[in-house]
Amino acid sequence: MLVEIRPAARLRGKNAVDITAALAPVFGALGTENADDGPVTDLSRLRVVADWVQYRNNFRTPIELRPVVGGGSPELALDLRGLSGADPDAVSSGVGAALHAHRGGGASARHVILEEWAPSRSSLIWAFNSLYWQHLQLWEEATGQGYESALPGGQSDARHLEPVRETIGRLFAIWDSLAERRALPEELYVVELGVGNGNQASTWLDTFVEMDRAHGREYYRRLHYLMCDYSPHVLEMARATVRGHAEHVSSFVLDAMRPLTSLAFLKFKVFFVYISNVYDNLPTDEIATIGQREHLVEARAYLPEPEAEAIAAGLGIEQQALAALVQKLLRLGPALLAEAMPQHFADVPAAVQFWRACWQALKLQERYVPLHGLDTYEIAPGINGELLRPLLSTGGDVRMHVSNGAATSFAETLPLLHPYGTLQCHDIVVTDSHQFRNSFRGPGKYDGSVVNWVNGPLLAHIGARKGFDVSFAPFRRSGSNITTMTADVRD
Ligand SMILES: C[S@@+](CC[C@H](N)C(=O)[O-])C[C@H]1O[C@@H](n2cnc3c(N)ncnc32)[C@H](O)[C@@H]1O
Repeated sequence: MLVEIRPAARLRGKNAVDITAALAPVFGALGTENADDGPVTDLSRLRVVADWVQYRNNFRTPIELRPVVGGGSPELALDLRGLSGADPDAVSSGVGAALHAHRGGGASARHVILEEWAPSRSSLIWAFNSLYWQHLQLWEEATGQGYESALPGGQSDARHLEPVRETIGRLFAIWDSLAERRALPEELYVVELGVGNGNQASTWLDTFVEMDRAHGREYYRRLHYLMCDYSPHVLEMARATVRGHAEHVSSFVLDAMRPLTSLAFLKFKVFFVYISNVYDNLPTDEIATIGQREHLVEARAYLPEPEAEAIAAGLGIEQQALAALVQKLLRLGPALLAEAMPQHFADVPAAVQFWRACWQALKLQERYVPLHGLDTYEIAPGINGELLRPLLSTGGDVRMHVSNGAATSFAETLPLLHPYGTLQCHDIVVTDSHQFRNSFRGPGKYDGSVVNWVNGPLLAHIGARKGFDVSFAPFRRSGSNITTMTADVRD
């Protein structure tokens, strides 16, 4: 049997997990399984993988059995955080039930399955994610909390002044030197993708004005700050936040993965592209090498039975009717859903409550599908899966995020940059592919949205191919796990 324990940092020190206690009931249950019952209980073929899922809200249950399509050895996936302190008998019977269900015993048959199997990036969790940003206000009214409180550190790092000053200082230096050579364009463009409530834009612009006054070159007069977001509602909030700078700000409803649809007129003209806590929020697949063979992770969303039963009972409907209702919610949004189905929802808050209950309950089943060559896989338009090979073949099995959304966005944004332009991103980033081996990297649930760590080495490869240097530096706030990623045209 292959046993992989990933959360290395949790094995030592003050907060070390008691691995023996957590795993004893698991192995106890495996030891009592009927050995002649096929690959699941052929212990020589079983892989046991233990993670520490640090997100309090996430899409996993503590014990899961993941099949490999085509009959490879299955994976018993454990969340050590979920197992620690759990009743050992419950853990044993959980393992037994997972094996039983895998063999077709049907123990999980009463879950409400919400979609067909598909690569993770196509799961409906992304429709939930988008719904959250489109209807943020309704969600925040219901929880009484702003989305920023869910971000690492409780607020966006975009609002820390020192790095903002540094960035603007560098821009001024570039502009001064271009001006000296009479090569500075009249219009100075800055683009922000995924603006949220506009606090970052406001901080940036206020700081710009203050520094420009001291610098004395009147760059503010020439500045155009373009706020972009795929949520018209979010953009409206952001516009209100920066109203003091209205003459210098325009806003665009725009998918961060397709910036050229509206911004093609800015090709080679943008001096600074800023993107904070957005790449971690874009759809992603995961790829795993298992026994030196690449597999794509497929997922399907479901509502576990007890929660589904409670939600359905609250609405007075059959459990199995929930799947169609969730689809309706995702298509219409909570306000229209309430209007369309007054028999189930007395008002909009009732529909929001349904939305939140579904999101809270929602889990993902996973399975592995063998890939017939990395070259058959597309990371992003025109970016072939072969680019992952150096990251995957670093010795031993590894499961990593492809960050397809981030890769698409990054590749499509670089053409906007002026030859002296910079793209800067603040996010949770894996900067060395080994980090996929030692910690859980998502997905987690932040309030109504999805979060995944971003595959930094892959973005660096993509940048390099397009003639950009990509570098990573830790964000300078103590305790922060945010990385600053910078892409500049290579000298
Ligand atoms: C976590 S918030 C970050 C907001 C802000 N940049 C900050 O750091 O506080 C993510 C933002 O990205 C936007 N967003 C998510 N996916 C997007 C997409 N595909 N295209 C454009 N905006 C997107 C959301 O609407 C939201 O405003």
